[in-house]
Amino acid sequence: MKVAVTSASGKLGASIVQHLIQEIGKENVIGIARTPERVKHLGIEIRKGDYNSREDFDLALQGVDTVLLVSGMDEPQKRIQQHRNVIESAKANGVQKIVYTSIVGAEEGNAFSPIVQTNRQTENDVKESGLDYVIGRNGIYIEPDLEYLDTYKNEGKIRNCAGEGKCTYTSRQELGYAYTKMLIEEKHNGQTYNLVGEPITQAQLKDYINQAYGTNLKFNSVSEEDYLAERIAELGGFMGTIIAGIYQGIKNGANDVPSDFEKATGRLHQSPLELIEAYKIAK
Ligand SMILES: NC(=O)c1ccc[n+]([C@@H]2O[C@H](COP(=O)([O-])OP(=O)(O)OC[C@H]3O[C@@H](n4cnc5c(N)ncnc54)[C@H](OP(=O)(O)O)[C@@H]3O)[C@@H](O)[C@H]2O)c1
Repeated sequence: MKVAVTSASGKLGASIVQHLIQEIGKENVIGIARTPERVKHLGIEIRKGDYNSREDFDLALQGVDTVLLVSGMDEPQKRIQQHRNVIESAKANGVQKIVYTSIVGAEEGNAFSPIVQTNRQTENDVKESGLDYVIGRNGIYIEPDLEYLDTYKNEGKIRNCAGEGKCTYTSRQELGYAYTKMLIEEKHNGQTYNLVGEPITQAQLKDYINQAYGTNLKFNSVSEEDYLAERIAELGGFMGTIIAGIYQGIKNGANDVPSDFEKATGRLHQSPLELIEAYKIAK
């Protein structure tokens, strides 16, 4: 069984590749990347695959049985066609199964919703492909929050617009484990899973970070408008809107969803404190 993983140069793609290697051996795993030279460290066969190029995927998917499609990073309106290039190529080249990394979130009502909509469209495209499929809806990664720890420490607080809303954080390591099971076990075919951990508020997140790192952070909730303006000033229009939209969604309950992680993996998702401790050890 040959399994290919797209965006293997990214952090999620790499985690999935590493977990897959443990399960099926490196000779059965193919990494596909827009920038192949960034993936040499994984020690597997690497093929070129830019989501903008159907031709790339017609070559990259030769002899592949199952493909894992990592959602792209481009502007929302471009993503649907980019993902279709992979799906159409999979259909045309004898791939039997496609697994797609989608996202948890609300299709309407916040600044992140346009991205969620494109993910839902690709989910439908995958379902209509006629191939066996599994869809994972990823929770928010906890790692970017922890990468921000120095800023939090300097400011003495975590500051965003999530209010009392709960977020089901996960990690790329937990997702890598889940996608490996979804790729190689047939019983998941046809399922759509929320790949998320336990729902926690930002105040709880702050408590867990304080516990793990011995810090004394506070949580400071600000208005959605102020936070959006601030993020755009710091990160630019595209990324600033996405980040503010994510916290707006958390505030309004978009990320407080039931977890299917156990169904996907046969084990419990790590607790929030375990996620933070695992990140700390890996650093
Ligand atoms: N759940 C969450 O909290 C969360 C957070 C951020 C993003 N996401 C989504 O999850 C995906 C994976 O996350 P990540 O952590 O692995 O992100 P990452 O480390 O930033 O990697 C992004 C990957 O996308 C690839 N890529 C971008 N444009 C491409 C194109 N046109 N064709 C092929 N590959 C392309 C990049 O390739 P290069 O190496 O060539 O640049 C890179 O491998 C993201 O793309 C995004 O859709 C989810």
